[in-house]
Amino acid sequence: MTTRMQAVRDEFARVFGGECTLVRAPGRVNLIGEHTDYNEGFVFPVAIDREVRFAVSPRDDRKVVLRSLNFDAESEFSLSNITKDADQPWSNYVRGIAAVLQDAGHVLRGMNAVIEGNVPLGSGLSSSAAMEIGALLAFEAVSGFQIAPVSAARLAQKAENQFVGVNCGIMDQFISRLGRKGHALLIDCRTLSYEPVPVGGDEVRIVVADSKVKRGLVDSEYNKRRAECERAVVLLSGRLSNIGALRDVTPEQLAAHGDLLADVTRRRARHVVTENDRCLRSVEALRAGDLEAFGKLMNQSHISLRDDYEVSCRELDILVEAAWAVPGVLGSRMTGAGFGGCTVSLVRADAVERFRAEVSRAYEQATGRTPEIYVCSAEDGAGIAEA
Ligand code: GLA
Repeated sequence: MTTRMQAVRDEFARVFGGECTLVRAPGRVNLIGEHTDYNEGFVFPVAIDREVRFAVSPRDDRKVVLRSLNFDAESEFSLSNITKDADQPWSNYVRGIAAVLQDAGHVLRGMNAVIEGNVPLGSGLSSSAAMEIGALLAFEAVSGFQIAPVSAARLAQKAENQFVGVNCGIMDQFISRLGRKGHALLIDCRTLSYEPVPVGGDEVRIVVADSKVKRGLVDSEYNKRRAECERAVVLLSGRLSNIGALRDVTPEQLAAHGDLLADVTRRRARHVVTENDRCLRSVEALRAGDLEAFGKLMNQSHISLRDDYEVSCRELDILVEAAWAVPGVLGSRMTGAGFGGCTVSLVRADAVERFRAEVSRAYEQATGRTPEIYVCSAEDGAGIAEA
């Protein structure tokens, strides 16, 4: 057992005593396919070696008693009356999951839980999806039922949409639950079918660079982008029949009928339509072993997110441009919702140290901030951890 998992277990013994079950749920990094999930398109994320851990046991009353090691704080609620805790917002992910599970007809038991995680918060690596999926598995473990993984992802997304109030797509919860070691998942966000594709190998590394900035804008701009995409579908339906989402529009169709849309809406739609296409082509390139082609598509994705979708920011652009300048970097782009957070780069194994040195130097010089840079491995989705 890792020492950090041991720390969660020790804290459980100290606070609650008795037997516990250990559950883990990972964060994620998306390699390509950004802002496509809520347009019923394609995404290509990996679950990473940063995760949230829960040590849990059932209670005989209807209370849920939570202790967070990261925040050194407690929060408690009753399954009979689930409300938000404004003072301990980290607990709202667990509360939201409990509410959604009960609404879906699952009978929950009360629970004692110690929670600890190392997914950086607010960095675009889906610490919230990891909390939600971890909480869902924790309730499964103490209550004695099991939810099929894809349904679990949907329920966790619902908790985020309805309880936490962020209108996110399905990608983060899906990959946190269903990720596969050594693989990225090509997920069709309409049908929720998926295919694991090997990534990494010995030759390349997935490198995340955290800008350490987060714009308050992220939630409101996110919901605005969603609305713009929906508007584009309504307008394009004037001429294109059978389109339920931007997923159904090809780049050629958009070029032919873009005159129906105002400039901003057209650029938003162009990002989504070309990004779906890039996502599918990048996976083909990877399968064919063409890492160079994969990397170029990542770079194009960044440019599209920066210029058409307008969800990048100066700090992310600086990190990406610094990465593009390092020999051995196959591709680099912002990842996640944007407006701060992280970049993801595909880097030849022997170029990682140079990446660290040069990207850090360029970023520090331009912004006065030190980025956090780490090499990620692709891991399995959530599960019961070693006892
Ligand atoms: C956030 C959301 C996801 C997805 C990405 C952008 O991470 O939670 O559903 O929309 O942004 O690709």
